Amino acid sequence: METLRKILEQAETNGVAIGHFNISDLVTLKAVFEAARDLNVPVIVGASEGERQFMGVRQVSALVKSLREEYDFPIFLNADHTHSLPSAIEAAKAGYDWIVFDVSTLPFEENIRQTKAAVEALKGLRPDILVEGEIGDIGSGSEIHDAAPDLKKGLTNPAEAKQFVEETRVDTLAPAVGNMHGMLKSMVAGDTRKRLDIKLVRAIKAEARIFMTLHGASGTDDDDLRGAIEAGITVVHINTEVRLAWRRGLDSALVKQPDEIVPYKILPHAVDSVKRVVAARLALFSGGRRARPASH
Ligand code: G3H
Ligand code: ZN
Repeated sequence: METLRKILEQAETNGVAIGHFNISDLVTLKAVFEAARDLNVPVIVGASEGERQFMGVRQVSALVKSLREEYDFPIFLNADHTHSLPSAIEAAKAGYDWIVFDVSTLPFEENIRQTKAAVEALKGLRPDILVEGEIGDIGSGSEIHDAAPDLKKGLTNPAEAKQFVEETRVDTLAPAVGNMHGMLKSMVAGDTRKRLDIKLVRAIKAEARIFMTLHGASGTDDDDLRGAIEAGITVVHINTEVRLAWRRGLDSALVKQPDEIVPYKILPHAVDSVKRVVAARLALFSGGRRARPASH
């Protein structure tokens, strides 16, 4: 099995991105895994601190590991938006492949200091683990919002990105380039889309020379996603679209089968609903090409 770092290198060489989808339960995990297997592309599942608390830090890891081993398939696990070192260490000890260490709300110098300490501690524990740092402000909450924050105020500065990467020695960087966590009601209705600053993506990549992750990608314009990948984004995070599809799939299954009480007869509808969204995003991120040779 190729390492996650190798998979990122191959994606960068091929000019494609790897999809990262947050999971909260077995429905979302099954949907992401099945969509990735159908398209035969590597995939990353993420569990934030809240998602890990619900499913169990070690239990998520055991589930993902069992899929990876049984199917010999490149599915990886990220401890998403981890706000403290003890929480990051807990995930590293549980076998997560990647930690997003997110103290981006702190002042820049303090963000550098804490992220650098986290990189040293985590690599000391697990030299193979990837650590991501985050700078800039893209808001919080993979939910449906009434209004967007002023994203222009929190955009990542390319020179600061370079300094952050050099001083912290992170493996990957999450910048703010017009992206935002969650979706506005108008995005859910399909009336508006998030727009990205592609020039800024290119400028940060040129300065920082590091793998970059686009967070908050739900509801983003398809052409902007293609442009951002071409300009230097290697991983794209989607959560709100997954949650929305989960809710819609579940709602429609319950309406269609008002007397059904068997979970494994109701939940496959939610799996299908999420799977459709994930498959469409994976196809876009991989540019319609297979990101690994078909082997199963
Ligand atoms: O880390 C998770 C992502 O950044 C998800 O953002 O909910 O806007 O897709 P999203
Ligand atoms: Zn995020």
